[in-house]
Amino acid sequence: MQNSEQEQIQQIHSLLQNINQTINESNSQIVHQQLSNAIQFLDQKYYVDAAPIVTDYQYDLLFKQLKQIEAQFPNLVHSNSPTQKVANDISSTFQTVQHLVPMLSLENSYNLEDLMEFDRRVHDALPNAFAIDYIVEPKFDGSSIALVYENDQLVRAATRGNGTEGDDITENAKTIKSIPKQVKFSQYGITKIELRGEVLLELKTLEKLNQERTLLNESLREQGKKELELYKNARNTAAGSLRLKNPQEVAERNLDAFMYQIGKIENQQGEDITQLFKTHEKSLATLQELGFKTATNHLKVFSNIQAVETFCKEWEAKRDSFPFDIDGMVIKVNDLQQQHLIGRTSHHPKWAIAFKFKAKQAISKLLKVDYQVGRTGAVTPVAKINPVQLMGVEISSISLHNEEFISSKDIQLNDMVIVERAGDVIPYIVGVDYSQRNNTQIPIVFPTHCPSCNDILIKPIEESVWRCQNVACPAQQEEHLIHFVSKGAMNIDGMGEEIIRKFLQENIITDIISIYNIDFNKVALLDGWKEKSLNNLQQSIEQSKQNELWRLIVGLGIRHVGTATAKMLATQVESLTLFKNWTIEQFTELQDVGPKVAEGLHAFFQDEHNLNLILKLKDIGININKTEIILDSNKLNGKSFLFTGSLSQFSRDEAKNLVEQNGGKNISAVSSKLDYLVAGEKAGSKLKKAEKIATIKVITEQDFLDMIK
Ligand code: IVH
Repeated sequence: MQNSEQEQIQQIHSLLQNINQTINESNSQIVHQQLSNAIQFLDQKYYVDAAPIVTDYQYDLLFKQLKQIEAQFPNLVHSNSPTQKVANDISSTFQTVQHLVPMLSLENSYNLEDLMEFDRRVHDALPNAFAIDYIVEPKFDGSSIALVYENDQLVRAATRGNGTEGDDITENAKTIKSIPKQVKFSQYGITKIELRGEVLLELKTLEKLNQERTLLNESLREQGKKELELYKNARNTAAGSLRLKNPQEVAERNLDAFMYQIGKIENQQGEDITQLFKTHEKSLATLQELGFKTATNHLKVFSNIQAVETFCKEWEAKRDSFPFDIDGMVIKVNDLQQQHLIGRTSHHPKWAIAFKFKAKQAISKLLKVDYQVGRTGAVTPVAKINPVQLMGVEISSISLHNEEFISSKDIQLNDMVIVERAGDVIPYIVGVDYSQRNNTQIPIVFPTHCPSCNDILIKPIEESVWRCQNVACPAQQEEHLIHFVSKGAMNIDGMGEEIIRKFLQENIITDIISIYNIDFNKVALLDGWKEKSLNNLQQSIEQSKQNELWRLIVGLGIRHVGTATAKMLATQVESLTLFKNWTIEQFTELQDVGPKVAEGLHAFFQDEHNLNLILKLKDIGININKTEIILDSNKLNGKSFLFTGSLSQFSRDEAKNLVEQNGGKNISAVSSKLDYLVAGEKAGSKLKKAEKIATIKVITEQDFLDMIK
């Protein structure tokens, strides 16, 4: 069972705080596992949720430690380790397609020393080389893309995905003006070519999109509707836009694309002529002549690694004058034959390295620390600083995570703190400028009692957070109400965080039940409420009564119970109150419920208060009844399925539904637990893997349909 998100984040901070811990035989396995989990979680937050948690530098610290452990204890290396594959950003929205050659990541460097080591490795790999030239170009900060042209036509565009296969986003890519649809590759005898590049959003365009959203928000506010969040930075917006379902909407985002590599070239005979242009420099120049955007006008070739570093530093100093975000420079061996000889790992090419720029920083005074009590009673210290601009956003409030975070960095009141934005989004204190200390600093004393209800705080063993244990704590209740009405829970539209706080303040609501007894005459007296917004709110509260049961289960805020568990629980009992008769063992027997969750569930349904609340909700008319799974058949009972390649008879989601509707189970990876692999056109690595496991039956889409006919 996966840890809750909050626990994962705590774990990551504690790994970072202990980054220099000694690794030996006895702790190597556990630290290796913790680091692998942390990196996979951070990849998911960065690539899939577009909500990074740590800075690139911190990510690299974790990654580096993982590599060191694997060097020291090679038996811990397995193909699933983040060091052995590229981070996976495949979504379930698109068909997946296979890249012609793997689409890899880059190794990172931060200083001359790192570059010299890279230079040494390159020279060691080419002992007979007469000369080795490095080509240095900007590292575009966007979302990578692979384009395939056949007979001079753009036939396919894909995201990086897991490096082997990616999302097919051809229709979206076609809306990007700097991606030509027709290119005269045939004049070079090229029949098929795969190009790699980066999809970007110009900073000017980001500003414009945000201006448009701000305007739109004004009218949404007037209609009492939920406002749209502003775009946080160019990279996330480019990545998100490229993955929109509607190509027309993609077109409106005005994306741009720069090509930075040729993946593979074939001639008419199907022969591999990837090294056609001899050097990387010539490849980019040719692509530019053919109508692509490339870094041709911004790159330089060197044979000396010190000169490479100087050039990188020059670019770092002038990065702000470039119209696009760049987060570093990429250094590549220029000669394509040499690149080929040097080779690659399963994670990165050994002939290239990124030189990462320092994260943009701001420095400001720490004025005070507030302590926020979360829904589960966890107390989080939050730094209030003198407002400061960082990457176009004003920052005044920054989470300090926990007590240990403050003490390990020796952060004190009135210190000048150094701020970065983790993944260019979340503000983060990286340290203190101790040179600016005068005699005004005051140590931060963590409270011993809850700032809301004054109950004593407790730090459970194995946790790094202090908690308020009082279930009646007003701050916890406020957060609980915000959670209850939120989109992922009861989804009461028009009742966001601010409205809950206001209603509580005005005594319009006091607890969950009171949401269903709101006196709308009182609301009408508040600023900004008009007939239309009042009606909308009334309607969405009413509508929430008919919600499927899982929404209520999520809304109740049982520890460690997320959406997936709630959905499963909702199908288990006729009425929610019946869980009061269940034992811990019964809960543990459920799919994906570990001992910790089972204990939490058991404790929750043994508590009289909770049962009373559920009964009261039932009396108000809120649905607490089982969600029936109406099966079409039981034909797939006990059998597990996985779909791969491009499917022509149904979409991936439809396929998965068909499995469930007929009593089967979907699994996400090829393993001995899999019974059937349904392989569509161009099935790739999953098919290869499945063919090696004798118990897996590989079938076609039609075979699958025949099974449920
Ligand atoms: S070359 C085989 N060149 O950076 C890998 N990558 O951090 C070759 N990137 O996934 C990559 N600008 O999406 C290369 N000039 C550039 C780049 C670049 C941006 C991205 C690329 C890659 C990521 C790795």
